[in-house]
Amino acid sequence: TGNGDDTEDNQIIAGTAPGFEPFEMTRDGELVGFDIDHLEAVVEETDYELVEWEEYEFDSLIPALENERIDVIAAAMTITEEREESIAFSDPYYSADQSVLVETGAGFEPESLEDLEGSQVGAQSGTTGEGIVQDELIDEGLIEDDDYTSYDNYVYAIQDLERGLIDAIIIDEPVGNSFQDDHEVEVAFTYETDEQYGLGIRQGDDDLQAALNEGIAAVEESSEYDEITQEWFGE
Ligand code: ARG
Repeated sequence: TGNGDDTEDNQIIAGTAPGFEPFEMTRDGELVGFDIDHLEAVVEETDYELVEWEEYEFDSLIPALENERIDVIAAAMTITEEREESIAFSDPYYSADQSVLVETGAGFEPESLEDLEGSQVGAQSGTTGEGIVQDELIDEGLIEDDDYTSYDNYVYAIQDLERGLIDAIIIDEPVGNSFQDDHEVEVAFTYETDEQYGLGIRQGDDDLQAALNEGIAAVEESSEYDEITQEWFGE
């Protein structure tokens, strides 16, 4: 049948990168987390309909958005100038610092980035954590290129840390805290970056951007934001 006034125009597909608890993870085969509940609540406030969630590795999200496989990224993605060269963001909806995770009981207790000198470090490919490894550790001469392991997913980095294959992981602090609760790892120290998470959209998708911003504000003003935070952070 003809689909003249195209409701499909208002249907959006979201992309995320699970393995980043409590923002997005798979539990009993189901995609759950703060970002899932938050985006669904936000879109609920708009004329758009969220029809599907697709899962990607983190560093494939921006290409998937640019190739129109997805319409919005909800993946604890930090708003950065570099990313703003290729995509646009909603207003911020969460702020976070980075943390340095070590294996519990391994006897390695760094208190600053300088203390990571000569150690084996891991982070997820394409993240701001990886940016810190490059800018603050490799470029500063604290570690060599091949002291760094880039992982598709932080879950694999945690496994290597628990096995003693690497000494430390740079990861968003709320996620480091969460992994600390269910793995033999602990946050050694926090590295202040004051990153703001935004929803990623294509440049020029101005109507969607405006709608998401209104939705974010509405969710924040209602009790929903606190409820979702309570649910996933128990705060
Ligand atoms: N906030 C960091 C960044 O934007 C890490 C995000 C990783 N997200 C994920 N779903 N794995 O680079």
